[in-house]
Amino acid sequence: MTAKEIRQSFKDYFESKNHKIVPSAPMVIKDDPTLMFTNAGMNQFKDIILGNVPIQYPRVADSQKCLRVSGKHNDLEEVGHDTYHHTMFEMLGNWSFGDYFKAEAIAWAWEYLTEVLKLDKGRFYVTVFEGSEKEGLMRDDEAAAIWEKFVPKDRILNGNKKDNFWEMGDTGPCGPCSEIHIDLRSDEERAAIDGKTLVNKDNPLVIEIWNNVFMQYNRKADGTLEPLPNKVIDTGMGFERLCMAVQGKKSNYDTDVFTPIIKEIEKITGYEYTV
Ligand code: SER
Repeated sequence: MTAKEIRQSFKDYFESKNHKIVPSAPMVIKDDPTLMFTNAGMNQFKDIILGNVPIQYPRVADSQKCLRVSGKHNDLEEVGHDTYHHTMFEMLGNWSFGDYFKAEAIAWAWEYLTEVLKLDKGRFYVTVFEGSEKEGLMRDDEAAAIWEKFVPKDRILNGNKKDNFWEMGDTGPCGPCSEIHIDLRSDEERAAIDGKTLVNKDNPLVIEIWNNVFMQYNRKADGTLEPLPNKVIDTGMGFERLCMAVQGKKSNYDTDVFTPIIKEIEKITGYEYTV
């Protein structure tokens, strides 16, 4: 599948699950003093999530252009050093505002990856929030139990607050999350080292591709968590990483998201692209 077809298949899949497909919001945020650039698909829905504006469509999906070059979610130091972080990237996402919750979000993420895109089920690992005594939050046993329907128990890993409690910024919507990681290493490498020991360890071929956030709180300026008016699903999948997985590449830059641009640069500059 080409990148264009992959993007379209995501939208088609969630449209078939009664989601309204909306356009990407601008990358420069105009009306939120807490954030300069769009850093996640949920930014444009912040006021809906907080209950400040009415819900127009309870189910929404899109592909959002994002920048993570400053603030809480800053990838700038990785760009140019690895094969899977970018300044600007696209995030595929689906949302539920007070409609479906963990069971549907997890089942659909799994179905889309393994039945629609036919990615190998044996290459996936998932994480769930381990809980936090400081925040007074329990382990997300509910998400773990749902995952058990799809993946073996030893591939469901606990994650800490840094990796498994997603927050938009210092304040704003937040909640426990469940990440889906994929192991793109060769069979020999996978046989030699168990993929689960490489999850969240900066291995360029064992990477997070999709984050499912179960938003239930608003982080206040004083640090406390206030329950949201509705339970919200907020998912974000790295489009360029997904293309790498589907197209069987070892680097995002080898997908057709980038190769036409790189070829054109080679033509203009007369230099050959080498890794
Ligand atoms: N907001 C979450 C993230 O950016 C999920 O979309 O990872």
